Amino acid sequence: MTSLQHTSLSFIGCGVMAEAIIAGLLRRKLVAPGQILGSHPRAHRREELESKYGIRVVEANGEAVTLGLDRAGQNSIVILAVKPQRLGTVLGDLSTRLKPEQLVLSIIAGARIETIAGELSHPRIVRAMPNTPAQISQGMTAWTATPEVSDAQLAQVRALLGALGKELYVETERMIDMATALSATGPTYIFLVMEALVDAGVHMGFSRHVAQELVLQTMLGSVLFAQESHKHPAELRNMVTSPGGTSAAAIYQMEKGGLRTVLSKAVWAAFQRAETLGGKKKPGD
Ligand SMILES: NC(=O)c1ccc[n+]([C@@H]2O[C@H](COP(=O)([O-])OP(=O)(O)OC[C@H]3O[C@@H](n4cnc5c(N)ncnc54)[C@H](OP(=O)(O)O)[C@@H]3O)[C@@H](O)[C@H]2O)c1
Repeated sequence: MTSLQHTSLSFIGCGVMAEAIIAGLLRRKLVAPGQILGSHPRAHRREELESKYGIRVVEANGEAVTLGLDRAGQNSIVILAVKPQRLGTVLGDLSTRLKPEQLVLSIIAGARIETIAGELSHPRIVRAMPNTPAQISQGMTAWTATPEVSDAQLAQVRALLGALGKELYVETERMIDMATALSATGPTYIFLVMEALVDAGVHMGFSRHVAQELVLQTMLGSVLFAQESHKHPAELRNMVTSPGGTSAAAIYQMEKGGLRTVLSKAVWAAFQRAETLGGKKKPGD
């Protein structure tokens, strides 16, 4: 029996991320289609999701919550998955619909627990921060919860977010901002490095297609190797750095160009931006 049995899930806003969770949960058979409800403003999208997954998708956000309550009572979970600019409208739609024991799980970037809890007058909130590889169930999601969320609900959240890849509980919202900078913004750093390496391959004379294949498989293999070997990255790097060799020549240039400092500053800038966007700091603070 999974922690999500006898639960209903109401997805408010059924875009890319909501669909990734729905598809992951159904693929892993953690829930049945009949347990899933959704709301979406466009009829075409509602019909698409209903026929693809056999779930029910309605137009009004409040109705998705009410139907969830009808099916599973307080054991129904509401997942907020709209864009940040729609948050205000959606919270207004839901404010009078929730039961105090219900869980609200938000994956909306930058939306603070205080804002959601305040607008909904609701105590049980989980805030999660996924990243783009979640769309292929290879994501990294950091999440935190208010003290009112029960142990059973924490287990449900783990199962739900597990549909997106790996999940990690963190103690504070500051850590969510930190994870926003490191793992949620992380694919941006990787894609930029990927692009630069492919361009370097083209510069030497490889076709773009060949350069891309060489770079992508090298990145993928290096990550899997690091994961499986459990060695510190410096140790892995030393293993392939022979005296006077190609790696030593390349490392010299990367250190000279300040690559570590640039990456560290980039992550720090993203962290400060996450705090500002979440309303914790004013720009320029
Ligand atoms: N995508 C990622 O990799 C990622 C990573 C981390 C966090 N997130 C967070 O996840 C949330 C969802 O992102 P997403 O990429 O799934 O965005 P998305 O594809 O745009 O999904 C949002 C959906 O909500 C619908 N919508 C618009 N107004 C609505 C309303 N008033 N009520 C209900 N639904 C409404 C949109 O409809 P239309 O299509 O008609 O606009 C859209 O289908 C965002 O807050 C984002 O910050 C996403």
